[in-house]
Amino acid sequence: MKKQPGWALPNLREAQKRTKKEAIIERSLFQIPVEVRDLGLGKKYYLRTYGCQANERDSETLAGILEELKFEAVETPEEADLILLNTCAIRKNAEDKVLGEIGHLKHLKDKNPDLVFGLCGCMAQEEEIVQIIVEKYRHINLVFGTHNIHRLPELLYEVMSCHKRSIEVLSKEGDVIENLPVRRFGKNKAWVNIIYGCDKFCTYCIVPYTRGKERSRYMEDILDEVRQLKAEGYKEITLLGQNVNAYGKDLKIEGGFARLLEEVAKIGIDRIRFTTSHPWDFSDEMIDIIAKYDNIMPFIHLPVQSGDNQILKIMGRRYTREQYLTLFHKIKDRMPNCAISTDIIVGFPNETEEQFQHTIELVKECQFDNAFTFIYSPREGTPAAAMEDNVSLEVKQRRLQELNDCWNEYAHEKNNAYLGQTVKVLVDGISKKNESILSGYTETNKLVNFKAKDAKPGDIINVKITECRTFSLNGEQV
Ligand code: 5AD
Ligand code: SF4
Repeated sequence: MKKQPGWALPNLREAQKRTKKEAIIERSLFQIPVEVRDLGLGKKYYLRTYGCQANERDSETLAGILEELKFEAVETPEEADLILLNTCAIRKNAEDKVLGEIGHLKHLKDKNPDLVFGLCGCMAQEEEIVQIIVEKYRHINLVFGTHNIHRLPELLYEVMSCHKRSIEVLSKEGDVIENLPVRRFGKNKAWVNIIYGCDKFCTYCIVPYTRGKERSRYMEDILDEVRQLKAEGYKEITLLGQNVNAYGKDLKIEGGFARLLEEVAKIGIDRIRFTTSHPWDFSDEMIDIIAKYDNIMPFIHLPVQSGDNQILKIMGRRYTREQYLTLFHKIKDRMPNCAISTDIIVGFPNETEEQFQHTIELVKECQFDNAFTFIYSPREGTPAAAMEDNVSLEVKQRRLQELNDCWNEYAHEKNNAYLGQTVKVLVDGISKKNESILSGYTETNKLVNFKAKDAKPGDIINVKITECRTFSLNGEQV
């Protein structure tokens, strides 16, 4: 690939480095230079987000920046002067979806040569992907990564005013950048970042490379944000991190995540959630705090990945099946009503039938409320991608089906226990399928569709459950 002057391209080896250097907390990095202040005046942007909540939250920042530049949001790419895809790299099928969309939208660039077509997020951090974009997807004229969102005004200026193809991806450990603009997409529920990056380096996972090292925000910055959200009328916040349990370790914050959770709870916002927890450093103090405060929701996402010790070891998960089960039961003993969901990967390289059955047995023991199940997808640059794999795709697909049938049965059973109960629901909006029906979530994160009396989005109301399905509950407002 021919590198142009001014380009910065991703480098996986650099992205893997971890030093002892503390991340810098940047408070005034974001600036809008005078010449770009009106860059978006009269122009429209279309922003599409793929992947996890971290990406959703990043998109709120992207939208915030674009609107400060006076761009106006539109719902379809056809109306846009700027198309921006905020992408996910977790599995190949996530990438394929994006590449398909880029191809599908190419005709818009043919029609309008001034169209700015940008790609950002986790895929932009991948060497292989950026190479493909540069060489084959020439209608993409803006690429930036997860570490330099704040540079969007300058990068846009290069494309729009200097008519350059702008590619700037930084492969570094990363800093914490405060005070970026934000346009929250929800009025009642908000995401709050608490820790960026990941240092766990599970052997299958691309995230430590695309998102840099673990770096926490200062507790006061997080608490200020939560206080402001409460003042603005938000009912629910979700504390976000690739691994929230690691919160504060880099800054040596005493009490770590448990203390942060308690301080957030004391602010008194109605509902607090957090995601994702790694079983490895889930402390007893965390369980105590979750149990103690009514406004910390009784719902924990606790990815297990596999029920087999050998596979867990090769995955680099840092716990055994027995340790996971001990933690699981400790949480359930302390909070019998707490819902627990999980992530599971099937078909990790050379997984035997017996090892897969250990996962099935674990699912039968835990009876998860919800599970996100995936076929292992090799990610270039990760240790697992270099492993030989003797499991065929057919076998992986069959295992996925067996696993899904298994957890679905328990999830349905878990939901059946709600029949006749009255539960508290935070109303989200109108059900997609039927306009007279509203929908929302229970404290345990169950989706409820219900016949409303006078409820509106943002209300927390009582709903009596009248029907239980595998993935949702039906009911009536009482
Ligand atoms: N292949 C399949 N699934 C993966 N996950 C992460 N990396 C991979 C991969 N290479 C899954 C894990 C993780 C969830 C977010 O995605 O289960 O918890
Ligand atoms: Fe996807 Fe992981 Fe990036 Fe989230 S952090 S967008 S899940 S690759």
